[in-house]
Amino acid sequence: MLEQLEILRKEFDTDLSAAIDKNAILNVKSQYIGKTGKMNDILGKMKDASIEVKKSVGAKSNEIKNEMSIKIDEKLAKIEADEINENLAKNWVDITLTESIKDLGLTAAGYHPVSIVQREIEDIFISMGFEILDGPHIEDEYHNFEALNIPATHPARDMQDTFWFSDMKHLLRTHTSTIQVRGMETRKPPFKFVGPGKVFRCEATDASHEIAFHQLEGMLVGENVSVANLIYFMKTLLSEIFKKDVEVRLRPGFFPFVEPGFELDIRCLNCGGKGCSVCKQSGWLELLPCGMVHPNVLKYGGIDTEKYNGFAFGLGLDRLVMMRYKIDDIRHIHSGDLRFAKQFAEF
Ligand code: PHE
Repeated sequence: MLEQLEILRKEFDTDLSAAIDKNAILNVKSQYIGKTGKMNDILGKMKDASIEVKKSVGAKSNEIKNEMSIKIDEKLAKIEADEINENLAKNWVDITLTESIKDLGLTAAGYHPVSIVQREIEDIFISMGFEILDGPHIEDEYHNFEALNIPATHPARDMQDTFWFSDMKHLLRTHTSTIQVRGMETRKPPFKFVGPGKVFRCEATDASHEIAFHQLEGMLVGENVSVANLIYFMKTLLSEIFKKDVEVRLRPGFFPFVEPGFELDIRCLNCGGKGCSVCKQSGWLELLPCGMVHPNVLKYGGIDTEKYNGFAFGLGLDRLVMMRYKIDDIRHIHSGDLRFAKQFAEF
């Protein structure tokens, strides 16, 4: 019987090496070590053998059976690995691009002009030590109005200006000043941050009005902050944006969350102040509402108004983008028109 097992082992080796695919191997497996396979055939004849024979044949057959099943597994694993390698060699994609996108007739993606200008302005503020904050588009009355000292009777709360949700509690933020409120909630003075983002107003659209547009809010809170500080930061910002010294002037402006409040104008860059169609012959461009933060707003933000004060401003980004790229209608900005967007794609 031991001899028969040795013969079986040899035959198995020959058959296994002849098996070249998965099915053939599984066939060999069942022929030799399956339930009705050759191994069990031999063992079946052991019924009448002596205990010693049973013992030695049993041990040998286990050894051979293990050996066979290891060889089968190894061969199956190799075939699987070969299959994978073959597939990898056949089905691969070259993701490197050797020709220029233009030569291939493809269009590269590019930043939206608002993003380009926004990023540039963020960099200017980062270099002056400001943080960049974000805030949600969907806001509540508290963050959009109440904490900004805008009473319930204020016209800005009007249905005509504000997109309210049907619960009449939530709204699409009408300005990025909400970020002032959120910024104060999570920091202690002194601090300075800007918060860029989209804002929404329910109003008729024309070449200079859109229902969704972009602002960049700024807030600086510290000890003994003055209007001179505000003017300094605004002048530095505008000179960086326009890459030349700009002349500014302040006019009084009313916003419930600043006192005093200003409209900051710059000398028209198009005509140098002589008067042209861009500045409507006035020589000045209205660019930036700003002011000293109203003490009520600081109080809502949990800030000690005996010790701290600050300034805030709200820069309209679309206006700057339009001036930079000579865009004559604000509605292009959200049009989604590829002919518009493509002009700013950078290769
Ligand atoms: N939030 C104001 C607006 O949207 C702008 C503003 C910001 C004015 C900060 C003063 C200070 O009109």
